[in-house]
Amino acid sequence: MTPILMLGAGRMGGAMLAGWRRAGAFALSDLMLCDPTPGEAALAAAEAGARLNPPEAELARARTVVLAVKPQVWAEAAAQYAGWLAADAVIVSIAAGVRASAVAKEFGGRAVARVMPTTAAAINRGTASLYADDPAALARAHALFEPLGAVVDLDDEAQMHAATAVSGSGPAYLYALVEALEGAAIAAGMPAKQAARLARSTMTGAAALLAESGGEPAQLRRQVTSPGGTTEAALEVLLSDRGLAPLLREAVAAAVKRSKALGG
Ligand SMILES: NC(=O)c1ccc[n+]([C@@H]2O[C@H](COP(=O)([O-])OP(=O)(O)OC[C@H]3O[C@@H](n4cnc5c(N)ncnc54)[C@H](OP(=O)(O)O)[C@@H]3O)[C@@H](O)[C@H]2O)c1
Repeated sequence: MTPILMLGAGRMGGAMLAGWRRAGAFALSDLMLCDPTPGEAALAAAEAGARLNPPEAELARARTVVLAVKPQVWAEAAAQYAGWLAADAVIVSIAAGVRASAVAKEFGGRAVARVMPTTAAAINRGTASLYADDPAALARAHALFEPLGAVVDLDDEAQMHAATAVSGSGPAYLYALVEALEGAAIAAGMPAKQAARLARSTMTGAAALLAESGGEPAQLRRQVTSPGGTTEAALEVLLSDRGLAPLLREAVAAAVKRSKALGG
């Protein structure tokens, strides 16, 4: 599957590069990066041995091509590079909202996998939703994303809207929750510095425990909720009919709607 060519090496491409390097997934000499303004992680990878902006004739060596430019410019990038690629190169697109069939068309009918990743790939704790019609393209996407964290196969490309709303946008939900908890701590009388520390450390610690214990979230929640206690009092608000569940359903529905509008 190597050499791997990454078209666009900004925030998300950089997170993938950092994660691959941490995991020792691919030899740096097997990575080619094309980006006029590469991000920090891409520059670091180039310094360590990846090929940055190689001559176009070299692009034909790539077996796997990661399309990691912004969705607004993906077709322009495809037009720029498609002619230089080998006929059997496989395209793995992370462009949000862009259908696999559209990518295949712009890349001359080459096999395409579509992926919705998250930036925690940088620390090998990413989550990637994968879809491909073509089994070989799906296998290629697995090989790229398994070193970067969890991988979830989608049965139908239409599910990519929900995957985008839940997982692609999901990290922002946690960050917003931490911000809100920090605000609530200040409202409860805590100084700002301590409020920030408590909110961040409590949430990241609880998330790490969820990940490492392998327990169900409901079970972990019950373990920290004593009858008649403080947590129960708070959960009566959070789990009410106007609490977190309807709020998140509404938030995810809004993101799905936007994903459909952007994707056409
Ligand atoms: N960031 C996330 O959390 C996230 C999560 C899931 C999926 N994604 C997807 O990942 C893709 C990249 O997003 P991003 O946040 O990483 O964007 P980004 O930081 O802007 O990175 C894209 C990079 O591509 C470069 N570029 C633009 N046109 C190019 C071309 N023709 N050839 C080569 N490189 C080119 C850009 O350079 P310039 O800055 O000079 O334009 C930039 O360095 C998007 O399609 C997005 O939907 C991102």
